Amino acid sequence: MSATLTNTKALVKQQHRTTLQSPRALELGFPIKEISQLAEQESWRKEVHRPIYHIHKWWAQRLGTVFRAMILGALADGNTNIWEEFYKQHNLNDKVVLDPFMGSGTTLGEAAKLGAKPIGIDINPVSTFIVTQSLTRVDIDKLEQVFTEIEIDVKEQIGHFYKTVDPDTRESIPVLYYFWVKEITTPGGEVIPLFGSYVFSKDAYPKKKPIAKIVCPSCGSINSGRYDATDLACESCRHQFNPQAGPVEGQYVTDKSGNKHKIKDLVTESKQSPKHRLYALMALKSDGTKVYLRPTTYDFSLLNEAREQLQKESLPIPNMEIRPGHNTNQARGYNYLNWRDFFNDRQLLCLGLLLQRILQIQDKPIRNQFFCLFSSTLEFNNLFCSFKGEGTGAVRPLFSNHILKPERTVLENSVWGTEKSSGTFSTLFRSRLLKAKQYLDSPFEVGIPSILSNDTKINGNGKVTSSALLNLAVTEKWEEFSVTAKAALVLNGDGAKLPIPDKSVDAVITDPPYFDFVHYSELSDFFFSWLSPVLKQEYSYFAAADSSHTNEVQSRDPERFAEKLARVFRECNRVLIDDGILSFSFHHSRAEGWLSIYEAITKAGFQIVAAHPIYSEMKGANPKSSTKEPITLDAILVCKKSVGIYEQAVDIAEAVKIKTEGICRELKASGLSLSQADTYVVGMSQAISLGSSCGYTTAKMSLLLNQFTLDR
Ligand SMILES: C[S@@+](CC[C@H](N)C(=O)[O-])C[C@H]1O[C@@H](n2cnc3c(N)ncnc32)[C@H](O)[C@@H]1O
Repeated sequence: MSATLTNTKALVKQQHRTTLQSPRALELGFPIKEISQLAEQESWRKEVHRPIYHIHKWWAQRLGTVFRAMILGALADGNTNIWEEFYKQHNLNDKVVLDPFMGSGTTLGEAAKLGAKPIGIDINPVSTFIVTQSLTRVDIDKLEQVFTEIEIDVKEQIGHFYKTVDPDTRESIPVLYYFWVKEITTPGGEVIPLFGSYVFSKDAYPKKKPIAKIVCPSCGSINSGRYDATDLACESCRHQFNPQAGPVEGQYVTDKSGNKHKIKDLVTESKQSPKHRLYALMALKSDGTKVYLRPTTYDFSLLNEAREQLQKESLPIPNMEIRPGHNTNQARGYNYLNWRDFFNDRQLLCLGLLLQRILQIQDKPIRNQFFCLFSSTLEFNNLFCSFKGEGTGAVRPLFSNHILKPERTVLENSVWGTEKSSGTFSTLFRSRLLKAKQYLDSPFEVGIPSILSNDTKINGNGKVTSSALLNLAVTEKWEEFSVTAKAALVLNGDGAKLPIPDKSVDAVITDPPYFDFVHYSELSDFFFSWLSPVLKQEYSYFAAADSSHTNEVQSRDPERFAEKLARVFRECNRVLIDDGILSFSFHHSRAEGWLSIYEAITKAGFQIVAAHPIYSEMKGANPKSSTKEPITLDAILVCKKSVGIYEQAVDIAEAVKIKTEGICRELKASGLSLSQADTYVVGMSQAISLGSSCGYTTAKMSLLLNQFTLDR
């Protein structure tokens, strides 16, 4: 056997040796199969399985299951079997875990569940606020009592604006949803509703339940018909039409004379945000059934009443300009120039009344919980929401995509809501806030009976209790954190400037932003515009003009991105103990993405000691995908401080190939189906990992990565 081949095999097997110190479990292996299965299970109903990270919207959230296993593996010694430890209760109270890009706080919650002390920082004020609230334990009875008090004070006042008259019984009944369509005026003065189709409500499984609701383009009546009907005579006016053929096709609208106009151009020329026409509503009859109705003068009069009251009241509603930007330009192109424009007058009035009431809550921690709930409600109550259909959560919220896309057919939810609503203040109180608070009292893991060991107890709901209750002192001060046994340090600021001493952290577990795939602060300004005026006295980070920051790690340019990321990783290097682990999840579909990460890690004084593939997210849901092929795998990159000792240079390309083939074979054997893009993620992660252990320069690494990319 040649020396090179022997070295190659040694490199494939024993990469961790270069780091000198005794390895941690995460360097040596990862229970890919089990954690992938659990992660997939978690991903289907994240808000149910990990409620503490879902009391409020955040973007690009990671799966708690994966982070629990990463933290365990980063803190445990090399003899530990991560999977055997996964469901056990741990009390790692002498360990500190840092996330310099905390987002919704996944690392913090998972570290705390293992008994470790978490530190998190985010440059975005909204993130810091929601993580603070999610980790703060409050008296649940008190929370319910205050909710009842708010209910007594404003439910009726708000509910008044979401009522209609039952045409059968003449009773006043609650409205669940209002259906609006944007209208556009052509240069010839024709006003056209922007319907792509007149079928406005169908079941999520239309083949099983084919009856849909169709609005007549001639008289506006609501018809019942098949979801795929192409010929219909209106039940009221007998107008014959094709329900599938609205005036809109793609980016264009066709006028009566058959002329096509680009919608965006007409909106820009109009110099105002598009007007909306109310064309239907869904109400709740007193027998509990839902009914679709055509709006009457009563419904329009409520809107006028709301408009007049809004003018008279002095409510805490936003008045913040939408700054130009990558995502915001999409809204600005539709002449939405102030965050207030994202709401109609009824929404502004009712949200304003609600916020005004929340401001009166005396108990500060409880008040902040309600601010958080209020902010969460905003995502489902604005003019960028649309209808998902029957048989599913009805409201498609503003941030169902990571963009600010103006909807042509808008769904107006009711702000307070009914027991049959979703995405309202009252329903989110129970489904999100209460569940999150209960989770702090009794945290649990997702359990899949087929992969659990016999002695792991799973309850009927598929839950396994494996953590003690989370009762943390949530603080912004290191001095308090460092002397408190159960504490979380939750900071706002730049991850490159941590107000904590050298070598004070045992592991850094994170998920960095990625190039410019998610424009966090542009999106979070939507929430900031409401929260800043009411919270800036209490939290100085809300006193800024908006939620952006010049040091936000974000850039389309790979070099600039690598530099920004390296700044934060360098700071992690400073605060991390010498043999501590920095680990994060990552994937990308191009070599330049992997190279930037390699550069950032290397510049920050780290070396990659292992790379494990792991299930990442539901297909297509991950904003980091920049490829048409689905990527379902992330690479968990495991790094340690570089000690300047490297493996001998061998045939790395061959070693990468062997490792990649072996890993993919194992993944397939465990039932995962891998796309070409997934195989690429495995290959690239092995390349940067093996190259790193041989001390590859960025230039050399670039050649290696390009070689694999070309081979694809
Ligand atoms: C991918 S997200 C983290 C998501 C998180 N893992 C979760 O599960 O919710 C990256 C975060 O980094 C934050 N960020 C960007 N630049 C930063 C910086 N210089 N310092 C601290 N945080 C930063 C962003 O605001 C964003 O919340």
